[in-house]
Amino acid sequence: FQRKKDRAYKIYSLVRDYYRFLLTSEAGAGAIQYLEQRQLSDVARNTFEIGFAPPGWDNLTKLLLAKGVSGQEMAQLGLVHAKESGGFYDRFRNRIMFPIWDHQGRVVGFGGRTLGEDTPKYLNSPEGEFFNKGQLLYGLHIARKGIREQGYAVIMEGYMDVVSTFQQGVTNAVASLGTAFTREQGKLLMTYTHNIVIAYDADAAGSKAALRAAEILQELGAQVSVATIWGAKDPDEFIQAQGLAGWQQLMAKAQPLVQFKLAQAIKKHGIQNSAAKERVLQEVLPNLAAVASPIEREDAIKHTATVLQVNWETVVEAIRIFKKNTS
Ligand code: GTP
Ligand code: MN
Ligand code: MN
Ligand code: MN
Ligand code: MN
Repeated sequence: FQRKKDRAYKIYSLVRDYYRFLLTSEAGAGAIQYLEQRQLSDVARNTFEIGFAPPGWDNLTKLLLAKGVSGQEMAQLGLVHAKESGGFYDRFRNRIMFPIWDHQGRVVGFGGRTLGEDTPKYLNSPEGEFFNKGQLLYGLHIARKGIREQGYAVIMEGYMDVVSTFQQGVTNAVASLGTAFTREQGKLLMTYTHNIVIAYDADAAGSKAALRAAEILQELGAQVSVATIWGAKDPDEFIQAQGLAGWQQLMAKAQPLVQFKLAQAIKKHGIQNSAAKERVLQEVLPNLAAVASPIEREDAIKHTATVLQVNWETVVEAIRIFKKNTS
């Protein structure tokens, strides 16, 4: 079994090397142009081992066959599809290729981005024995050092966010590969740090997912806060506009979960009258009640009271009732 796994890692590494080689070959000219247009330096390209899958149907299939890998095995590894007429064809064609590693830095799959507007925008390896999206964090083996040095980790949505911010000096970021953060990803990250900032995209899907991720992490016992990207769609675009200094300010202003949730609830309900305030309070109560540290809870209570313009005793009383009703 271990032999089979080692062989799979070897094949994935070979595929990574092949895609990297193609990026800098003549075939990769358009891909290089695309990456340059997105301001990706060669440092980022090399650190993240970015490559290019060419447009043909069987470039990879042929290469691997020549190396003694059977079509069946390639299909099992999610690299090719079986044709109905027999034979196999490449899964990834004409895409920028991002290798995806496990936390030990072994390649376990790929994400491929179109150069244009085709759908899907990103095509990932299929879920399988090696590639379990919900158990991986993109870039973790690279960010390990930065997380240790800076004492906290940042979670972003996408490959591009991690690569682009890394080249500007943000070395402690990982991506959850989409928006649905899982408990497994939380536990994995918390083996490195308990201090976590979520920096998802600025759209509605992003803030909803940020809340859910923050709740999962709080439940696991992390100190979690949420950064609100402004003036840009996502961390990639933000740092291109605001630079590392802007990024650091954004991190400094990241809000603890309760404050973030409060702001979201106020956006939704307003605080123009008691009924609205009550709705806002009801939304944050579960989070207030879940703050484990007494000092942090007191801060969160005071903050909530100030924002709602009520006495802090009122908030404490509401928490007491909430706890009574839910226990
Ligand atoms: P760019 O458009 O290249 O800047 O990418 P992005 O990271 O900003 O994309 P987006 O915010 O739309 O998505 C964030 C992450 O979700 C991506 O990095 C992917 O991991 C994942 N994702 C986005 N679109 C797709 C898709 O069409 N299919 C799959 N499987 N994953 C996707
Ligand atoms: Mn721990
Ligand atoms: Mn998004
Ligand atoms: Mn983007
Ligand atoms: Mn995005």
